[in-house]
Amino acid sequence: MQDNQLVAQALDMMKFAHAPYSGFTVGAALLCDDGTVYGGCNVEGSSYGTTVCAERTALVKAVSEGKKRFLALAVCSSADSVCTPCGICRQMLYDFSPDLRVLCADNKGNYIEHSLRELLPYAFSEEVL
Ligand code: THU
Repeated sequence: MQDNQLVAQALDMMKFAHAPYSGFTVGAALLCDDGTVYGGCNVEGSSYGTTVCAERTALVKAVSEGKKRFLALAVCSSADSVCTPCGICRQMLYDFSPDLRVLCADNKGNYIEHSLRELLPYAFSEEVL
């Protein structure tokens, strides 16, 4: 799976976004270490705190099917600027794959790459529990 293909899958997932409150649609595609890809979109709730981000939608889909290690995540939004994962998503992804490559894309598929370690310095982790 090439990076631009993963970004294309994230862009495609935006069509499923349920974002009637913010109008901000987000798509994600998560590449597992076995080569499979799980897509996700944001799912908003009328009680706003129930909202689930696209990245965590993809992560929970993958983990709930037995996947535990991930190589790369692509995330994009309806905005012209590149979309980076929120803090909660960074933390949850870090627990599974701290060395994840994160491809942050705009609505046309242009992207920048960061490692999750870069995006979440001094991360909390299971090691201290
Ligand atoms: N959102 C995501 O899906 N991922 C992010 O990393 C940032 C925010 C969603 C949540 C909400 O539905 C909308 O974008 C506006 O915050």
